[in-house]
Amino acid sequence: MEVGYTHFDTAEYYAAGHSEELVGRAVRETKTKREDVFITTKVSPEHLNYNDVLNSCENSLRRLKMDYIDLYLIHWPSIGMKLEDAFRGLNKLVRDGKVKHLGVSNFKLKLVKQSQELSETPIITNQIPYSLPNRTYVENGVLEYCQQNDILITAYTPVKFRSVRVNKTLGEIAKAHAATPFQIALAWLVMQPRVITIPMSFNPQHIKENFDAAEIQLSAKEMTQLNNAWDKNDD
Ligand SMILES: NC(=O)c1ccc[n+]([C@@H]2O[C@H](COP(=O)([O-])OP(=O)(O)OC[C@H]3O[C@@H](n4cnc5c(N)ncnc54)[C@H](OP(=O)(O)O)[C@@H]3O)[C@@H](O)[C@H]2O)c1
Repeated sequence: MEVGYTHFDTAEYYAAGHSEELVGRAVRETKTKREDVFITTKVSPEHLNYNDVLNSCENSLRRLKMDYIDLYLIHWPSIGMKLEDAFRGLNKLVRDGKVKHLGVSNFKLKLVKQSQELSETPIITNQIPYSLPNRTYVENGVLEYCQQNDILITAYTPVKFRSVRVNKTLGEIAKAHAATPFQIALAWLVMQPRVITIPMSFNPQHIKENFDAAEIQLSAKEMTQLNNAWDKNDD
């Protein structure tokens, strides 16, 4: 928060709710106004029915000690889930003002489209794994569909890959920008239309570097070089 981050990503699943407690505490103890932060949290796959969705949200709000969530996501689809039933609950939460926006996570194309039909308000994001070596959601068509349909891609696990320190192209571009390879990996994501990212770090220096990466401007040539610098499934 001191660095300037305003978007915090958590989930009922993370540390069995303790992550939400810490996010709430950080907002209160830094005396940050509620409207100055954007809180994303998520309902777990085992809670995807009407009553459980309502209960999960109540529990998240209680742990956060907040009266609304900015963005509420379905964390993962589950086998046999009744998406219609889950969205009945999610739509009610938006109508009741407990949730401002809805989104999904780890959803493939068919489920994204179903969610758009079931949601009374726009699905504003699909949170997916996306990084230089991980193009799964490019290959399955989700990235392009979301970009064309005004759905933000929230790229998770953006820098946790083995080759981040040794990929030659990444290293050279980092050097040219006096940046670290981690920063370039983040800049490559946020330079793309409708892509945001949520890096995680325990290290204050990394936290600052990740924030500053948003200012790095990569050229079209560098973007293409990075696009092509990993073979399929090459981490
Ligand atoms: N929706 C989902 O299913 C889902 C799944 C996974 C993750 N997520 C979300 O995405 C967030 C990030 O994903 P993630 O934690 O899996 O992966 P990540 O952010 O790509 O990687 C985190 C790791 O990278 C290191 N790191 C971060 N910035 C660095 C930097 N500038 N220089 C060097 N090392 C750096 C961190 O170590 P240090 O602590 O030492 O910096 C940490 O070990 C999670 O916190 C979570 O909110 C969502």
